[in-house]
Amino acid sequence: GADRGASRGRPGFVPVAPNIDDVVTVPAGYDQRVVVRWGDPVVPGAPAFDFTAQTAEAQAKQFGYNADYVTFVKIDGRRGLLWVNHEYTNENLMFSGYTDGADADLEQIKIAMAAHGGSVVEVERVGRTGAWKLVTKGRRPFNRRITATTRMQLTGPAAGDRLLRTHADPRGTTVLGMLNNCSGGTTPWGTILTAEENFNQYFVGGEGVAEQAKPALKRYGIATSGDTRSHNRRFDRVDERFDLSKHPNEANRFGYIVEIDPFDASYVPRKRTMLGRFKHEAANTRTTTDGRVAVYMGDDERFDYIYKFVTAKKPRKGSRRHNDTLLDSGTLYVARLTGNSPAEEIDGSGALPFDGDFDGSGEWVRLCDSTRSYVKGFTVAEVLVHTRLAADAVGATKMDRPEDFEASPVTGKVYCALTNNSARTPEQADEPNPRAANKFGHILELTERRGDAGATSFGWKVPLVCGDPEDPATYYAGYDKSEVAAISSPDNLTFDRHGNLWISTDGQPGTIGTNDALHVMPVEGHARGALTTFATVPVEAECCGPFITPDQKTVFLAPQHPGEDGTVEAPTSTWPDGDFPRPAVVSIWHKGGKDIGSR
Ligand code: FEO
Ligand code: CA
Ligand code: CA
Ligand code: CA
Repeated sequence: GADRGASRGRPGFVPVAPNIDDVVTVPAGYDQRVVVRWGDPVVPGAPAFDFTAQTAEAQAKQFGYNADYVTFVKIDGRRGLLWVNHEYTNENLMFSGYTDGADADLEQIKIAMAAHGGSVVEVERVGRTGAWKLVTKGRRPFNRRITATTRMQLTGPAAGDRLLRTHADPRGTTVLGMLNNCSGGTTPWGTILTAEENFNQYFVGGEGVAEQAKPALKRYGIATSGDTRSHNRRFDRVDERFDLSKHPNEANRFGYIVEIDPFDASYVPRKRTMLGRFKHEAANTRTTTDGRVAVYMGDDERFDYIYKFVTAKKPRKGSRRHNDTLLDSGTLYVARLTGNSPAEEIDGSGALPFDGDFDGSGEWVRLCDSTRSYVKGFTVAEVLVHTRLAADAVGATKMDRPEDFEASPVTGKVYCALTNNSARTPEQADEPNPRAANKFGHILELTERRGDAGATSFGWKVPLVCGDPEDPATYYAGYDKSEVAAISSPDNLTFDRHGNLWISTDGQPGTIGTNDALHVMPVEGHARGALTTFATVPVEAECCGPFITPDQKTVFLAPQHPGEDGTVEAPTSTWPDGDFPRPAVVSIWHKGGKDIGSR
């Protein structure tokens, strides 16, 4: 239409003011409603949720805890499917009197395991609006719960390797469950990619493994000395595979990108080893100039890396069998970024260098392809299972916690949220991570050579250095800072069809003192950098999702862990129902039926 384009100015909605209210706040003229929340029925036959009489059997059929990644696929004009990740559990809010995994009832541990994973739910449009509700009756053939015990297949070059073999799975090809799935993405062939992130926290017994296995466990944040059993959910008390002193390879079977077909409830989820093992935040695809598929991925840890995987083959329309093999062969790269300003101009204060931009060039350094390792001393399987160590060996660039990626549908430029890194010292400040003690995070814009997602080099810029705009160490692409909103800890990204970048946050309460939010920022034209706030989420909730439907009429948001610092006895949030907090997914729409972002 006439309004399509990359330089149309800032979206017209009336921005939402920063606040600490225990509600979802949307702009004037918009409305919101809960679509699905913790405990709602997913699998047909699921019992009604009863907070005071929870069972693992019921939870395995009901919507899980802590919704993070949300994506939507259309069935027809009125119905669609939501895929939602259940990243983790807040036992302090789920169970009355909960103290620690060591003291928990075994049934509570089983409930927590069943509340992890993901859900596929059928949703239906409310009237002719952009509001959606959960379908709770009928066959719902696609509805599905995936949990910490769902059988999955390990595929790709590392499957079957000695590093992945265990007592229960001597072939090293079958694993039960996925853990801490944070964000994700979709593929051009219609499947969902879901990313296992902080899987390290589920294991105990690291002190008991062989000395030579400890450095790799440590590099992934698994404790290998002292008391490894406190402050742990203690899944090992119901399934001993979580005790590394007995089953040291079990941790090697988590930390992957998992592929799921939302339209096949019997599909065995595939853990794709070819995409490496790290604290995967998300996996977002872009088609290369020659028709293959690139997957951009961040490893969410202070001083960890940005990765890209490029398939060897092209997708074939309609060939499910062929497309099911695409993520098992190709090339895995890690990013090395170089600034173009003299190092002494980057002093960690956030002050711009003389050339006026934090910018430079970068290369995608090959780690391995399906049959050949490019890292000295590492086999292909070792690169894929100990990916962090392989990337260390090639001198990849240490970033400030790389989270979500998203490519602009208008320009093809790729954006990455670097959420924060308060541990960076002034000496460690570099042009791509220019601020020491980076409490508020920044955004990286990456332009592949010749615009090709398959390229092995790129240019980059930092269009946004987050914080309070009155702080001189913030940067909004040169836009007038008296007209922009504060933002901290960017996490999840999406685009609208005009090419505006939507940024949701995880960490505003502890850094700028206001609830987490969904912001939007034009990245092209005269309004580049004009960041405003579209929505805020309840007290102590992280703002997950966001997903804008292709018709532009709805944005789905997932307020994750509302009231996370409270307890059942002393709640700090009662969203959404006024009694106890329940993580949920909401739909937001314009009451006049206009596109998301309109006034
Ligand atoms: Fe689960 Fe990196 O956020
Ligand atoms: Ca520069
Ligand atoms: Ca995240
Ligand atoms: Ca996060």
